[in-house]
Amino acid sequence: MKILIVGNGGREHALAWKASQSALVDIIFIAPGNAGTILEPRVHNVKINYTDISALKSFAKKEKIDLTIVGPELPITMGIVDEFHELGFNIFAPTKSASQIESSKVFTKKFLSRYNIPTPKYEYFTDINIALSYLDKISLPIVIKADGLASGKGVIIAQNKKEAKNIIQNMLSGNLFGNAGKRIIIEEFLYGKEVSFIVMVDGKNILPMATSQDYKRISDNNIGLNTGGMGSHSPAIINNDVYQNIMDHIIYPTVFGMSLDGNPYTGFLYAGLIIDELGKPTVIEFNCRLGDPETQSIMMRLQSDIVDICMAGCKGILDQKQINWDPRYALSLVLATKGYPNNYINNQIIYGLPKKNFTNSKIFHSGTSLNGNQLITNGGRVLCITAINQNATVARKQVYKIAKSIYWNNIYYRTDIGYS
Ligand code: AMP
Ligand code: GLY
Repeated sequence: MKILIVGNGGREHALAWKASQSALVDIIFIAPGNAGTILEPRVHNVKINYTDISALKSFAKKEKIDLTIVGPELPITMGIVDEFHELGFNIFAPTKSASQIESSKVFTKKFLSRYNIPTPKYEYFTDINIALSYLDKISLPIVIKADGLASGKGVIIAQNKKEAKNIIQNMLSGNLFGNAGKRIIIEEFLYGKEVSFIVMVDGKNILPMATSQDYKRISDNNIGLNTGGMGSHSPAIINNDVYQNIMDHIIYPTVFGMSLDGNPYTGFLYAGLIIDELGKPTVIEFNCRLGDPETQSIMMRLQSDIVDICMAGCKGILDQKQINWDPRYALSLVLATKGYPNNYINNQIIYGLPKKNFTNSKIFHSGTSLNGNQLITNGGRVLCITAINQNATVARKQVYKIAKSIYWNNIYYRTDIGYS
């Protein structure tokens, strides 16, 4: 089979790495990939930007691609799936309409309320004065969310009224996130533990991925700016009751509701949840894709054939598939460049990358490229080190030992991944 993976981050490197182990695969193309993906056997980088849907379509036609797997949300929300379906191609991701579950928070909030799926109380606004008068009636902290996609930055937690007022004004006037912020949600702040719950869906059947947790804040002790994720581990620490509660009250009704609405969901579905102290899960967001760096920890534990199950997802036969997980604990640490998630410098030479591969650890590339033969940084999140072990402490020690051997100008990483 010929596979096309769309994207260039650590998530896509992990997918390509796993797909390259599939007995079904002859060749894997990744558009555009990075300096790590080209090192994997049978994987070829293709110089096409992941948002260039027409070039991706032409490539898929020319190469007669059997299966396409899409990593990032942007091409999905732009409609890559609808366009590939028109040509009769297998592609595992949701349609543009189903991807509104990520691209419009208002869409999702209305959907969740309609199907009685637990989510924080909210109101949505397009008018500054109406939003400000609502602010006078509620207690803080509150969460202010841009309706549309804002590169993971569109959610701000306001601790006091002055801050909240500023954010509301700046979002609704378009100063902060352009059109994505011209409609906002003001949402109740929930206390609890965050869990990433990712499942595969084929329109009706569900195959859950291993549970995971990521670390969204930039600094140790979960403080500072929100990022795409600075580390992850799998499994998440949740018991069987909570797991079943998530399936029964969140995942099943979501997949059923989408189908009932005539908007069936196919692809990876990522529920961002807060679990309160009584173990009750609440949805704070959905993503229409896998998480990064959750995928790196999850792929490290996946023992089944990723290509086989994604193909089953496209064909609507996930109920015929089983998924097997390595019971060991996987931990991922993101190595970033200082300044991320705001401004940072690129093109820094990366030193100290181990030459050989180890069986219980893997370095996934995110923002890397080659300058001649020289490996350089090319993005805020640069590498992701993943290790697997029966013992969480050993996995953590291994990851941090590898991290210490790697260096570039302005390297930055959290020192507490896996501790909380
Ligand atoms: P989102 O993009 O909606 O996942 O929000 C980004 C981050 O903001 C989440 O990972 C949480 O840490 C935080 N967050 C979002 N909504 C809430 C909420 N209602 N209560 C508490 N924290 C939240
Ligand atoms: N790690 C969070 C995300 O992928 O959205």
